[in-house]
Amino acid sequence: MVPAGSDPSAAVCQGADVTAPDLDVVTRIDELRALLDRVRASGRRVGFVPTMGYLHEGHLSLMRAARAADEVVAVSIFVNPLQFAPQEDLASYPRDLERDLALCTSVGVEVVFAPPVEEMYPQPIATTVSVAGVSERMEGAARPTHFAGVATVVAKLFGIVGPCRAYFGEKDYQQLAVVRRMAADLSLPVEVVGCPIVREPDGLAMSSRNVYLDPEERAVAPVLHRALLEGASVVQAGERDGEVVAARMAEVITAEPLCRLDYAEVVDAATLQPCRRLVGEVRLLVAARLGTPRLLDNLGVRVPEG
Ligand code: PAJ
Repeated sequence: MVPAGSDPSAAVCQGADVTAPDLDVVTRIDELRALLDRVRASGRRVGFVPTMGYLHEGHLSLMRAARAADEVVAVSIFVNPLQFAPQEDLASYPRDLERDLALCTSVGVEVVFAPPVEEMYPQPIATTVSVAGVSERMEGAARPTHFAGVATVVAKLFGIVGPCRAYFGEKDYQQLAVVRRMAADLSLPVEVVGCPIVREPDGLAMSSRNVYLDPEERAVAPVLHRALLEGASVVQAGERDGEVVAARMAEVITAEPLCRLDYAEVVDAATLQPCRRLVGEVRLLVAARLGTPRLLDNLGVRVPEG
């Protein structure tokens, strides 16, 4: 425990635990288990929001959803090395634990789990979780080791936290599908809840990595959302060929000289398989590099019948 008024981020980095009036900040797995065992023993259900920190309104929307549905809300803040490839931004990933803790408190979170890397990975990991099929295209093609890293840490976190429900953003639509499939295949006793994308007023999907954008790139960034809206309006106007819709979205993005398109896809909302003939619930997904960061965005469309 650390006395009130001391710097919680410093304390957490040193591996001590901090207790603010309404927030338990725990860095050790055994302490978290003991705390949440007491919660469950008193009949209260735990809602869980896994994050990598540097929180924004998108993260907070997940915490509010948990707050509304579950008696106790636990959040993890852990920049998971396993989901970063060697050339990616693990070292520079933005971090501000003190600010994150204040934001968690502001939305009524009770428990934050902020482990150091050695606590999560005390030895080189020999057991990993990989989800075939749904993790292979789009982000999986661009970042071949990414989803195994995500699935492995989420499986570990589910095992550590023991939530009834866990909340994930549709912002990372493929990640949500991967986690759903993992939970179903492994019969994990947790309901995976998907939450809508939170956007800036100009349409840019909120992301911790948006801080990497310089002012010129930031001004251009809403082009991803505009491409999705264009794709949706082409479907609403009667187009039923997924490739035509995808090509239209790609055109919008490639017209922007600062953007390098990675993919524009139209897939079945449940299976994430590309659909040529559009019917039912489909998902439009785009990814593009804009300066340093890769930006992702997506939009759900219900294809009108007939
Ligand atoms: P992170 O990028 O911090 O995101 C944590 C959660 O917040 C994810 O479920 C993500 O989809 C959601 N989120 C991010 N931006 C959002 C937005 N604009 N609107 C709604 N939800 C948003 O995703 C991860 O961390 C990691 O891969 C993790 C699941 C924690 C595993 O390490």
